[in-house]
Amino acid sequence: MTAHPARLHGLLHPALERRRPAETALAQQAAPPGFLADVLAGLTRRPKGIPSKYFYDRQGSCLFDRITELPDYYLTRAEEALLHLAMPEVAGFVAPRTQLIEFGGCSPRKARIVLDAMERPAAYVPIDISAETLTAGQSLIRDYPGLQVTPVAADFSAPLRISLPPGPKLAFFPGSTIGNFSPADAQIFLRRVATLVGRDGALLIGVDVKKDPRILWRAYNDDAGITAAFNRNLLTRINREIGAGFDPARFHHFAPYNEAEGRVEMHLVSTDPQAVYVAGRLFCFHAGESIHTENSYKYSVLEFRSLARHAGFKPIRTWSDRHFALHYLCVG
Ligand code: AVI
Repeated sequence: MTAHPARLHGLLHPALERRRPAETALAQQAAPPGFLADVLAGLTRRPKGIPSKYFYDRQGSCLFDRITELPDYYLTRAEEALLHLAMPEVAGFVAPRTQLIEFGGCSPRKARIVLDAMERPAAYVPIDISAETLTAGQSLIRDYPGLQVTPVAADFSAPLRISLPPGPKLAFFPGSTIGNFSPADAQIFLRRVATLVGRDGALLIGVDVKKDPRILWRAYNDDAGITAAFNRNLLTRINREIGAGFDPARFHHFAPYNEAEGRVEMHLVSTDPQAVYVAGRLFCFHAGESIHTENSYKYSVLEFRSLARHAGFKPIRTWSDRHFALHYLCVG
């Protein structure tokens, strides 16, 4: 039997050769549309990268929930406090029987703060790529009699093919997930939201604010290693869903603040030279080579308002504790 060329160069870990056929056979059909193509394209690119939207399988969503409870991950707590502060005023802007459309659909706790303040909300429409995540919204049916809960499984980073009944609409995009889009893509996304909610629609959106890089470092590099596990879980998911031989322990988590770009970046950095089979194709990594897995852009209040204006929204009101900002924007 001839050795694989990567083995000859000392790149292919012997364990991987043993693992290859089994991993390929184990590839499951559960992969979301586009996952295989995005992973192969991302690993072929230089520098290598994989879209962050694929973090959220069941395990990734659980790890993200744990991140939101970390003492240094201030975003979730700051946003919830701002929602409590803002909602009495927001409720005054919103007509009775408004439909609440949540992008992300994974935070029934925050949706409840909004719904509690709204006058007889007509519907709650959580939209998320993960059908599993959407089931969390079902718990609202019990507590809000008369509220129509209509989950939509869709990738909201792509054009939205959703038709909603007529009536006033409030879009809700919490968690600073807008920061996981590039500014150009954020503008495209906001335009689509403006079209979806229509001429008298509005958007309530949470956005993380630029701040001391040391605070950002702690938020994305926790001592308990939960963010590292969240990052590495992407490799485990690729192994399981598209058939690959990644050893997550051979990639370390690195999450610096890129000041010039105004974003926290997450990377998985190869600890040593290695080669990995992914869906039958071999990808080589040199020691220190990174897979860029996430950007988390931070915006000053003025920067975000300007972005929103360019997307067709009129900023009405912002609540901020200097760490985080909650913007209420109207179409127009
Ligand atoms: C979901 N998103 C807004 C989180 C963030 O902060 O960018 C994801 C995350 N990545 C690492 N920690 C949390």
